[in-house]
Amino acid sequence: MKLPSSSATELNKTDLKHFLKTQDFTKKELTDILELMAMLKQARKDNALPQLFKGKSVAMIFEQPSTRTRVSFETAATLLGGHGLFLSPKDIHLGAKESLQDTARVLSRMVDIIMARVDDHKTVAGLAEYASVPVVNGLCDWLHPTQIMADLFTMQEHLPAGKELSDLTVAFVGDATNVTSSLMFACTKFGMTFKHICPERFKAPQEWLNIAVTNCETSGGELIITEDTEQVAGCDIVIADSFYWFGQEDEKEIRLATFIPDYVVSEYLMAKAGPNAMFMHCLPANDQRECSREVMESPNSIIFDEAENRLTAQMAILVYFTHKHNIEPSAETLAAHKSRIEGFLNNL
Ligand code: CP
Repeated sequence: MKLPSSSATELNKTDLKHFLKTQDFTKKELTDILELMAMLKQARKDNALPQLFKGKSVAMIFEQPSTRTRVSFETAATLLGGHGLFLSPKDIHLGAKESLQDTARVLSRMVDIIMARVDDHKTVAGLAEYASVPVVNGLCDWLHPTQIMADLFTMQEHLPAGKELSDLTVAFVGDATNVTSSLMFACTKFGMTFKHICPERFKAPQEWLNIAVTNCETSGGELIITEDTEQVAGCDIVIADSFYWFGQEDEKEIRLATFIPDYVVSEYLMAKAGPNAMFMHCLPANDQRECSREVMESPNSIIFDEAENRLTAQMAILVYFTHKHNIEPSAETLAAHKSRIEGFLNNL
């Protein structure tokens, strides 16, 4: 079925793919995106990026603040020859004066891809239901898939000698956040050992664990859920994230009291992990809460590579999800339109 979409895009429904969660993609498809990231990163380094998003626009809906996600998507669009439109709830009618479905359908007639950072997963899923262009989840209460593409790529760039992604043991220390879930799903899909080290009270819901266990059955990965911070020993990567996020302010005191000091990724905890263990954090970080400034600044910290790779990931996501929708006009068609329009203008 043909779906009406922006003038630069004609989609068949079978071509339309959204990026709401990594679980919707095979390991091979995610590996393809990682390969594309590597090529685009190298091309950017060489100042030779092909204009693969030329003339295209990404609508960027932000219900929550953002530094990395906003700047990386907007910059990726520009670097690839296109344009990013920042749309905050103050700027558009979404959810107030206009339904989700109407906003999704209107944006689909004007832009080539929609990225949405939302409070509730249902919002981004609802946009995808009605949009006729790809919808990308730029973070919701459940997941943060674009972050995880950057994280997988950063892990790949820093692989210990002789290891592949599937050989890694990754420890996530702290709350069951949208980053925890996405890492849990992606790491187990890639066959890694994923340890969630977290107080029992805040451990991940059973539905998440079921998804990860199912991944392990196929990939050979392993999922370990523990309260014991000693479990960082021997891990290749230790990851921290905020102990509370938007919407959890009411629980701030209890969360901080539960996680601090035992679950703070400190020099002490990194020493337990071992001399080669690397530290990751999606940022923004509350230093002296979930991790120490010393760990962030240590030689084993790869947090700023991880942040830069948000841009690497967004370039690949914009290209991967829109490249099939390009309509390349022939030289004759271009010349015919140019001549017709210029002829009209000259006679005004
Ligand atoms: N990691 C991350 O999503 O950062 P921002 O909130 O700054 O986008």
